[in-house]
Amino acid sequence: MSVKLTVYPDQCDAYGHLNQASYLSLFERARWELLARGPGMDVFERAGVWPAVRRATVDYHAGVWPGDVLEFTTELVSRGRTSFTLRQRAVRDRDARLAATLESVFVCIDADERPVALPDAVIAALAAEPRRIPLASGLTLGFDEAGQGDPPVVFLHGYPFDRTMWRDQLLTLERHRLIAVDLRGFGVSEQGDPRVSIEQYADDIAALLDVLAVPRAIVVGLSMGGYVALAFAERHPERLAGLALIDTRAEADSADARAGRSATIATIASEGTAGPNTAMAAKLFAEDTAAEVRERVRAMMARAEPAAMIAALGAMRDRPDRLGTLGALSGVPLLVMVGTEDRITPPLDSRKMAEAAPGAELVEVEGAGHLAPVERPATVNEALQAFLDRVV
Ligand code: MLT
Repeated sequence: MSVKLTVYPDQCDAYGHLNQASYLSLFERARWELLARGPGMDVFERAGVWPAVRRATVDYHAGVWPGDVLEFTTELVSRGRTSFTLRQRAVRDRDARLAATLESVFVCIDADERPVALPDAVIAALAAEPRRIPLASGLTLGFDEAGQGDPPVVFLHGYPFDRTMWRDQLLTLERHRLIAVDLRGFGVSEQGDPRVSIEQYADDIAALLDVLAVPRAIVVGLSMGGYVALAFAERHPERLAGLALIDTRAEADSADARAGRSATIATIASEGTAGPNTAMAAKLFAEDTAAEVRERVRAMMARAEPAAMIAALGAMRDRPDRLGTLGALSGVPLLVMVGTEDRITPPLDSRKMAEAAPGAELVEVEGAGHLAPVERPATVNEALQAFLDRVV
């Protein structure tokens, strides 16, 4: 969930721009607003604790002027027994530029100012834990869920990421029921069989929809998640209400790419994931992608299990060409999106997909690399929102 606040002249300094001290009040207002819309402003009081700020670090990135609207997002980045850390971002609404970030460390104290354990109610209010559901096969999949509305939107992550890459979409597209899934082996989902196929990942999604009693969904897939989304479209067409393919391609791997996958599998098996992750991170981002975004993605990659990465590499290597699947999509709305600086699945791949599917809409996201939803969330969310409005 995000909060938008307008900047007024009385918050600005003699030079006309938002004063650095006023930022703290705006960040605080955004936090209260979140509590008001969620668990209630008195969530701490009800739990008998008070959150005292121990440290606040602000980074200023861009100027803000009277009349500007700032969009605030808040993320729980860590928690200890009595303390927790929140990271907030303020983004200029008019051009999606990051204006400032605030990282605050809070300690829960009681009426005598003694640190007390963080109550469960407060943890639940700050960070919804992922849901975990066993499929009919017995394998447990994890996912984050937000919002309400039918048909739901299912988000499928790329390699080697997890459901949390869709954080900005789940915070923003709140007029819909949003389900960001961890593919088997990634995030909190179980691996099951050490070998997997793209088709198996797709069937897992259909099985999850069965358990959730969801007949049809809009599927959004990034890169490997796009390969899975295409397999889902081919194998479960009656369940597809719309398809968004982001930073991905429909064609199979070339012989060189297949050999590269096998070599990476061997490297991970013998040396671990660090080398392949570093090599991939070097190609992931657009030139201007913020350092904190790169850091968040690197941390996500570092969390991926070697077994999940090996299984996924084998699945991607062995997947068939699905350009024909796009041509056969009849009556399913299709959005194709790509970062203009995507070096892993470049814009040419997306143009080919859009040409293959009659009526497809193609959006090229300026200033994004291979992870457009993470690097340029405002632009991607706007395009996704327009697409969802068209489909639903
Ligand atoms: C991904 O982001 O999922 C991967 O780059 C896909 C691939 O390696 O083909």
